[in-house]
Amino acid sequence: MCGIIGILGNRPVSDLLLDAMKRLEYRGYDSAGIATLEDGHLARRRAEGKLKNLEAKLAASPLHGHIGVGQTRWATHGAPTEINAHPHSTHLVAVGHNGIIENFRELKDALLAEGRVFVSQTDTEVVPHLVTKEMEQGATPIEAVARTLKKLTGAFALAFVFEGESDLLIGARKGSPLAVGHGEGEMYLGSDAQALAPFTNRITYLEEGDWVVLRRAGATIYNENDKPVKRQMIISSASSLLVDKGNYRHFMAKEIHEQPDVTGHTLARYLDLATLTTKTPQLPFDWAKLDRLVITACGTAYYAGLVAKYWFERYARLTVDMDVASEFRYREAPMKAGELALFISQSGETADTLASLKYCKSQGLHIAAVVNVTTSSIAREADVVFPTLAGPEIGVASTKAFTCQLSALASLAVMAGRARGTLSADDEKAMVQALSEVPRLLSEALRLEPQIEKLARRISKSSDVLYLGRGTSFPLALEGALKLKEISYIHAEGYAAGELKHGPIALIDEKMPVIVIAPFDHIFEKTVSNMQEVAARGGRIILVTDAKGHEAAAMEGIETIIMPEMPAAIAPIVYSIPIQLLAYHAAVLIGTDVDQPRNLAKSVTVE
Ligand code: G6P
Repeated sequence: MCGIIGILGNRPVSDLLLDAMKRLEYRGYDSAGIATLEDGHLARRRAEGKLKNLEAKLAASPLHGHIGVGQTRWATHGAPTEINAHPHSTHLVAVGHNGIIENFRELKDALLAEGRVFVSQTDTEVVPHLVTKEMEQGATPIEAVARTLKKLTGAFALAFVFEGESDLLIGARKGSPLAVGHGEGEMYLGSDAQALAPFTNRITYLEEGDWVVLRRAGATIYNENDKPVKRQMIISSASSLLVDKGNYRHFMAKEIHEQPDVTGHTLARYLDLATLTTKTPQLPFDWAKLDRLVITACGTAYYAGLVAKYWFERYARLTVDMDVASEFRYREAPMKAGELALFISQSGETADTLASLKYCKSQGLHIAAVVNVTTSSIAREADVVFPTLAGPEIGVASTKAFTCQLSALASLAVMAGRARGTLSADDEKAMVQALSEVPRLLSEALRLEPQIEKLARRISKSSDVLYLGRGTSFPLALEGALKLKEISYIHAEGYAAGELKHGPIALIDEKMPVIVIAPFDHIFEKTVSNMQEVAARGGRIILVTDAKGHEAAAMEGIETIIMPEMPAAIAPIVYSIPIQLLAYHAAVLIGTDVDQPRNLAKSVTVE
């Protein structure tokens, strides 16, 4: 993971680097560091933990210089200590790295055997040593980097600054994204265009294997064979505004409450509410001719895809293969050219999802992406992008991106159903009508917050929580468990309610809260039977249902969150609110770092 930034400026860069790193902190916050050239000499400041620790260090001991690199780290090799913080350096070069150098062990052994001294446990440290070795043998910095890159395997983006070189910054990309920013007499490198947005919107994305030499006068890009190449410069739409929390205590709370608005924006992109039809964009494929849809994603986006599988199967009668990207990318699943592969990602940078996309591309599939960041790598690689209009999501635990993904996916399932003739015009109207009510129903669900907060007190005292659901509520049970464990650190599991008796029922005792997500629908009765099985073993049930479900369940001694009534098709979108709020309030009561939970990162750019 990690975010890297490089600035070849005509003014002091330390504060600029820090500003850019704030925009990259979503990629990791285990440690941060910057290296600049002070009077021609490399100087560094690094700090364990969040960026604010580095900021404090720099306030006490500023770094001067007009050129430098910075890095925010998500630890892969070596603990999140200051020693392991980037940039890593020798007396000749300092390097910020995003990714993993997979062959670092053999490289390190060889360098150690030559008497080179390593101070960190990172994979990265081999890079400055290799460059240094080349330079000591007479190579220029540019030659040294070119030779070093040939020795590295793995996925990486790198930014180099050199002792005594006040007009030279080098960047390299293989597997991890790297953008070049073109300023007025200044040049930049950054893991994404967002990081560079305060300085410039003129961006060139490096392609796989590219490396770049920056001088204040401009950039020279080389491909992996060291041949100079031209890469297009684009005008990025990334915003330079740093989002704030408004009146909320956490970004996550703000983002939960934004959902009525942002799902509304997303739905408006796909639905024509005047005619109650889906909008039909120009597509590079024909829904009617597809035999199969392959959906791949990670984390919360994967659960959005799992809900969509039910929708595409039911409304479009389209077979859906769904997998987590980390498995899919190595499964070598048989694919037929002309099929459709759909990738779901908030950031558009998740390494496993991107690798899965590339596999499908190599197999001749059409590539579609539901993404929130439309300047991202996944968006740029896709044949067609279906944007979610959630706006920047800062809280590491995904909330509004999830409901926007569901909103877009439900719209696409209806669009596909119409095109395939499996939904009539009347069905389409009914579905669009139902979807148009999502923002209002989300607002109504948010009014349940005081009750949910009280229930969260009980949850916060538990050490294990079970979530159950059937049908589209099953992926929601998985998402509920994920939300709770990622921000409150309480162990939680999501299960298909019908699977309860195949194992998890053994866990149930009077200490175990069981959260049952069950809108009143055609399978409600089945879920009630599973609840009875839990109640008979003393489990403490929290039922999330509607008034009809409450009445039909007619169980004593359980807590019920009564949701507004709604068509079953949109329930997974609206029922997201109670599971998000439950996790949020439990975490606040426990006192964890809700927006930046331990060990996690917003965007997982390593596999
Ligand atoms: C990380 C984040 C999750 C997110 C997942 C996939 O694990 O913490 O919130 O769901 O990555 O990210 P993506 O950006 O591809 O949706």
